[in-house]
Amino acid sequence: MGKERIRVYAWEFPVRLTHWINVLCILALSFTGFYIGNPFIHAISSKQYIMGWMRYIHFVAAYTFLMSVIVRLYWAFMGNRYASWRVLVPLTGRQWKDLWDAVKFYLFISRKPPYAVGHTALAGLVYFFIFALFVFQIISGFALYSLTHEGTIWTLLGGWLTGVMHLQTIRLYHHLAMYVILVFAAAHIYIGWYLDARERNGLMGSIFSGYKFVTGKEWE
Ligand code: HEM
Ligand code: HEM
Repeated sequence: MGKERIRVYAWEFPVRLTHWINVLCILALSFTGFYIGNPFIHAISSKQYIMGWMRYIHFVAAYTFLMSVIVRLYWAFMGNRYASWRVLVPLTGRQWKDLWDAVKFYLFISRKPPYAVGHTALAGLVYFFIFALFVFQIISGFALYSLTHEGTIWTLLGGWLTGVMHLQTIRLYHHLAMYVILVFAAAHIYIGWYLDARERNGLMGSIFSGYKFVTGKEWE
């Protein structure tokens, strides 16, 4: 066996940093957001300020999330080729072929895992939709926020949406998008673990260290 593996630096610091900030923010936003929609902890004294804290944490995490998404979008234009916006949208014939190969692998039609140094074409496309959903959460979130906070900045960040959709529709979509993100996260962790075991390329460690260990098949 003993095949030589090459160590490549795939995920630069901003990619890893924003990944983990997003994960922490999403956990906090989902917990507090669920509570805002369905306050399952009841106050037993007027000194408790449970909803106030939940909303406060939701908004602090929301601002952090906004900054993190802005940094990652900036890095899609300034970062290395694995971080580029080009891997998120399939524009080349090569990407469409890779996309199809990956779909075949996940549908058990092919045994060949989708080798790639960066994201596979399928992962890239899924992340594109997830980033779009992040942007939707920010816009719809600030639309709700603009009701209690008056100012041009909130109108720009999301308040304008209240002129396009009914408020309760915005609230419903803001809530439903949470479930889509959480289902994505579960599948994402499962697939990451599975590919790491199949390809033995250090994928799971790579989102901490930045490095992957590849055989060369990735360039074929
Ligand atoms: C709320 C939970 C999570 C979300 C929304 C999420 C989202 C994402 C996104 C959008 C990317 C693309 C990164 C980029 O190009 O900037 C990514 C990559 C990655 N994530 Fe996550 N992630 C989550 C949790 C996790 C966890 C818990 C792990 C591992 C323990 C993990 C492992 C990875 C790995 C290994 C990659 C890079 C490899 C690849 O799929 O191309 N993620 N994740
Ligand atoms: C991954 C990101 C996010 C998730 C999962 C999330 C989740 C939720 C959920 C489930 C609710 C309750 C909706 C309901 O049933 O009434 C909510 C409410 C809300 N969210 Fe988010 N949210 C996210 C991001 C944001 C952002 C970026 C903002 C921006 C300020 C924001 C602002 C708000 C506001 C203002 C409310 C209504 C609070 C109230 O009515 O008192 N959210 N969120």
